[in-house]
Amino acid sequence: MRTVHVNAASKSYDVLIGKNAVLALGEEAKKVCPGALKALIVSETNVAGLYLDTVTAQLEDAGFEVIDYVFEAGEQNKNINEIAGMWNKMAEAGFTRTDFVVGLGGGVTTDMAGFAASTFLRGIKVIQLPTSLLAMVDASVGGKTGIDIPMGKNQVGAFWQPSLVLEDTSFLKTLPDEVFTEGMGEVTKHAFIMDLALFDKLEKANGNIRDDEDLLEEIVFMNVSDKASVVGEDETDNGRRQTLNFGHTVGHVIERDSGFTKPHGICVAKGMGIVIDACVRAGTLEAEEAEKMKNLLKLYKLPTEDDITPEAIVEGAMNDKKKRGDTLSVILVNKIGRAEIRKMNKEEFLKFLSV
Ligand code: GLY
Repeated sequence: MRTVHVNAASKSYDVLIGKNAVLALGEEAKKVCPGALKALIVSETNVAGLYLDTVTAQLEDAGFEVIDYVFEAGEQNKNINEIAGMWNKMAEAGFTRTDFVVGLGGGVTTDMAGFAASTFLRGIKVIQLPTSLLAMVDASVGGKTGIDIPMGKNQVGAFWQPSLVLEDTSFLKTLPDEVFTEGMGEVTKHAFIMDLALFDKLEKANGNIRDDEDLLEEIVFMNVSDKASVVGEDETDNGRRQTLNFGHTVGHVIERDSGFTKPHGICVAKGMGIVIDACVRAGTLEAEEAEKMKNLLKLYKLPTEDDITPEAIVEGAMNDKKKRGDTLSVILVNKIGRAEIRKMNKEEFLKFLSV
């Protein structure tokens, strides 16, 4: 098993990565949640059918009383009603401040489990057990938790670091192809903004990482290490962490305009493609580097464009939570592995995006 240590300002914790990592859950939970008697497993319908029994058994064997809250899979259920359901379930079961939540699922699940934990009794511990590639490399690490509201994605939430993240890479075997591909949106993002070695590895693998378990584990480890280094420097998104939003400002508008029917990682890839082209036009990125980046996206079956207009992107982005006052922090890439944060107002952003 590989370990990445996250040293965030508010809390330090380990991310354990490896095949069958779930088998360590009971013992690890006893270590990071001393005094706990009860655990709430938060999961969704697709994942619960596959792994809820295994995870429940792990916790019960370690002596915890286990209850679960399973919601209907899908981004449309990332809302306050489901969170209220989790709060009620914990209250009815007599949870106290030493008890804990386990998030078992993809990014929607880990975000909601973290948010329920951050708010119940003003904050109890959460252990994240991500089952999707996207949640392993991004959502479950770094403590961003929350829910969507009709005006936008992740508009309500809290920074609440987990006490442990357990990434069982065997879980990736059951992931549908399109969900795996979606996760590659965040993997390629890390390569573009900060990790040339990861870029080279992905390019060399020529689009085939899914069936090579050791390579996949190494790629997950590299991504978690990247994320941990950013979160260690800037937990609350005031500086370097904003570079993780590469492609996201545009991607979130595409995602919201689709009524959240287009997957997040796919929209991020489209957003990255659009911004890569804009960086070339703005002279911050060589055309040859841009071509290599877009080729990598295509190699991993990700889209690089969308028919959204620059005007629609700017209009949508002005409601984004990344906006501060009149200004947006737009993430540019100067070369593969190096990102830049550039502040732009509405007019500047429109000019940047316009062909
Ligand atoms: N997913 C971006 C971040 O955690 O900051």
